[in-house]
Amino acid sequence: MDKKIPLSLSFDDVLLIPQKSRVLPKNIITESIFSRNIGLNIPIVSAAMDTVTESKMAIAVAREGGIGIIHKNMSIERQAEEIDKVKRYESGMITNPITLGPKNKIHEAVDLMHRYEISGIPIIDKALKIVGIITKRDILFLDNLEENIEKRMTKEIELITAKKGTTFDNAKKLLQKYKIEKLPIIDDNKRLIGLITIKDIIKKELYPMAAKDKFGRLFVGAALGVTEDIIERANELVKMNVDCFIVDTAHGHSSGVINAIKKLKSKFSNIDIIAGNVATARAVKDLALLGVDAIKVGVGPGSICTTRVIAGVGVAQFTAIYECSYEAKKYNVPVIADGGIKYSGDIVKALAAGASSVMIGGLLAGTDESPGSTEIHEGRKFKIYRGMGSIDAMKAGSSDRYFQSDVSKFVPEGVVGKVPYSGTVKEVIYQLTGGIRSGMGYVGCKTITKLQKNAKFIRITSAGLRESHPHDIIMTKEPPNYEPMR
Ligand code: XMP
Repeated sequence: MDKKIPLSLSFDDVLLIPQKSRVLPKNIITESIFSRNIGLNIPIVSAAMDTVTESKMAIAVAREGGIGIIHKNMSIERQAEEIDKVKRYESGMITNPITLGPKNKIHEAVDLMHRYEISGIPIIDKALKIVGIITKRDILFLDNLEENIEKRMTKEIELITAKKGTTFDNAKKLLQKYKIEKLPIIDDNKRLIGLITIKDIIKKELYPMAAKDKFGRLFVGAALGVTEDIIERANELVKMNVDCFIVDTAHGHSSGVINAIKKLKSKFSNIDIIAGNVATARAVKDLALLGVDAIKVGVGPGSICTTRVIAGVGVAQFTAIYECSYEAKKYNVPVIADGGIKYSGDIVKALAAGASSVMIGGLLAGTDESPGSTEIHEGRKFKIYRGMGSIDAMKAGSSDRYFQSDVSKFVPEGVVGKVPYSGTVKEVIYQLTGGIRSGMGYVGCKTITKLQKNAKFIRITSAGLRESHPHDIIMTKEPPNYEPMR
């Protein structure tokens, strides 16, 4: 055992020192990298937790410029479906549109429209040639859903299509000119190769910060556990065009994770593989040498975590980020700071300490887009938020995260609770990125890379922390970005 015991610090132990600045918050560039091949427009990632990220959350976060990681407390099929929903939500051109044949029944079209929240389906024959399109309008008030689609669809002869290579602007003009909502794109043999929709054009204009892949589809990641079916699960998710995998465990510096990374790396060379969670430079080195594309840092800082008190293990999050990022830089691997973000100021501190993005659970769990509905308690709205190491979540499937898959009785490392309802993801992220911009302005750094280079920290005492929060006042109105510590 080392004789000297080093001190580890958390966000509340430090502050960034203000520095001469020529940048205004509005001119700050919030772009960052998430993993080697995924760039974000804001450094925010929603946590792979079953009360935080399913497709709705992932869509909302990616539209704002970040990325969501779909949790894995669900069947392989369901996780694949959730990924598929995100990847299909917004596209430059939908390259694999959902299609049916002319002999399919109307009710099949209705089912697919409902499942994927789409308003029309191209109809193709066996040779993949387009023969029509069926839209919600064609089947409005229809009683007999057993009819063949060909009876109701707009037939090829009246169909407006465009040739392969059509620009987005040209597609927009055609959609406007013919007052249609969907433009099938075909090759020289009239085979359907894609679809451009008015919805996608509107979304593109409404969300200019959206974080997207090279086909214009929103980025999304998926959590994987160290389980028997890891490769089977990964295969199904790759079919849905998932952008990255996170091997999601409470202890990433373990042989199970190392073996899983090796397996994934050998099977999926075109997809970013992220590993976690770790809290030491040694772990970063070991994972970096395996070629991971990002490393997730955080052992025990999460708002619902009890790992540190149950297992007595962890590193206070600021020090963990600082030390891990220092090591990760040597290997050019981005760090994701996971857990413990209570305020936007903590995000600025995490980035300045070297992280390229932050993963957030609690602060997003209260939004409209998290799974589950709101509940009222003493006149205030709340949403359920639970640790993946809580008994309830482990029963639902996450016990492998805590290496307890084969035990008959769990030892939980997380709690179940509720967080105040906080409106839409858009509103919450607006406040969080506003804080990031403000912080970067105070230290005179226009980009996150500059912040990581130039930031200077100072340690504070508990008196300093007390002084940092509102004091000597009875708050009568809480602002949207400040929830007193309870
Ligand atoms: P925040 O602070 O954003 O933290 O709510 C979210 C992160 O906490 C981790 N997590 C857990 N850690 N026990 C733990 O020790 C748990 O039950 C648990 N559930 C989630 C996870 O890394 C998440 O992103």
